[in-house]
Amino acid sequence: MNMLEKALEKSKKFESAVAKKTVKHQQQENEMTVDKQAGDQKEQDIVTFDWDYLNENGFIRIDDSHSRIAEEYRSIKRPLVANALGDRKRDIENANLILVTSSVPGEGKTFTSINLAFSIAAEMDKKVLLIDADVAKPSVSKVLGIKSKFGLIDYLENDSLPLSDIILQTEIPGLRIITAGKTHKYSTELLASDRMIALSKELSERYADRIVIFDTPPLLATTQAEVLASQMGQVILVVGAEVTSQSFVMESVKKLQSSSDVVLAILNKAQRNLNAGYYGYGYY
Ligand SMILES: Nc1ncnc2c1ncn2[C@@H]1O[C@H](COP(=O)(O)OP(=O)(O)O)[C@@H](O)[C@H]1O
Ligand SMILES: [Mg+2]
Repeated sequence: MNMLEKALEKSKKFESAVAKKTVKHQQQENEMTVDKQAGDQKEQDIVTFDWDYLNENGFIRIDDSHSRIAEEYRSIKRPLVANALGDRKRDIENANLILVTSSVPGEGKTFTSINLAFSIAAEMDKKVLLIDADVAKPSVSKVLGIKSKFGLIDYLENDSLPLSDIILQTEIPGLRIITAGKTHKYSTELLASDRMIALSKELSERYADRIVIFDTPPLLATTQAEVLASQMGQVILVVGAEVTSQSFVMESVKKLQSSSDVVLAILNKAQRNLNAGYYGYGYY
């Protein structure tokens, strides 16, 4: 049984007949008040993906490990996973927290975040949490067709909202998602808040066996990604091959150098024509 069949079988068990691409979050009563008791198995709808749409747009299919894009992401993820879960873990603080950013919009942060999450989650024994931290331009939920009641910003803003209420299950057993949540005037402050720092700490300690991928805003547009980078063990700088000037890239690298030990640069030829797309990668 391949990965997709297993995922389908698992999702069949939750026969709540969810309208495709729709997630109705629970907890309408008792809104944001009661902490959940341990072992409280509340029923939660499962996020399903429109694989045809994703495939048409160049994303990985988790049931096809032979495609060129799957191949490319295998080499991209290898050093990241080794750092996060392997022997080097001890040398890198918060090694399992990976931030994906770029200099300017449109270089492929969301594309990279989602593909990386799919690629890692497709491995039987790996768990991934994908977090949309590009709160000004939330795209993970848009691309994946997710509608959720609460997300990251709601959690950061509301002390009584438990983490479990914002983590969405998906049809890929190893993949969970946190959406950006509502827009907020002070999102930069929230991303730099003590609660965000506590969340990062919790994700790196309590969820140490899980790789957490943060899709973030561009580095040169706001300070949000830079603020977040200081809380992450590894950073991926996506560089749009023919669109980003060298001075932009150098400026971004400079910003990241002081905040994170590991910076992986991905050269992303962000063309719609898949045959022309390619990746290069390397470490600073
Ligand atoms: N390597 C690639 N191959 C095909 N399409 C890509 C690639 N990289 C990015 N894209 C597409 O380019 C557009 C911009 O990418 P996106 O990830 O949304 O950028 P960002 O999140 O950095 O603003 C999206 O439509 C995305 O699907
Ligand atoms: Mg994006």
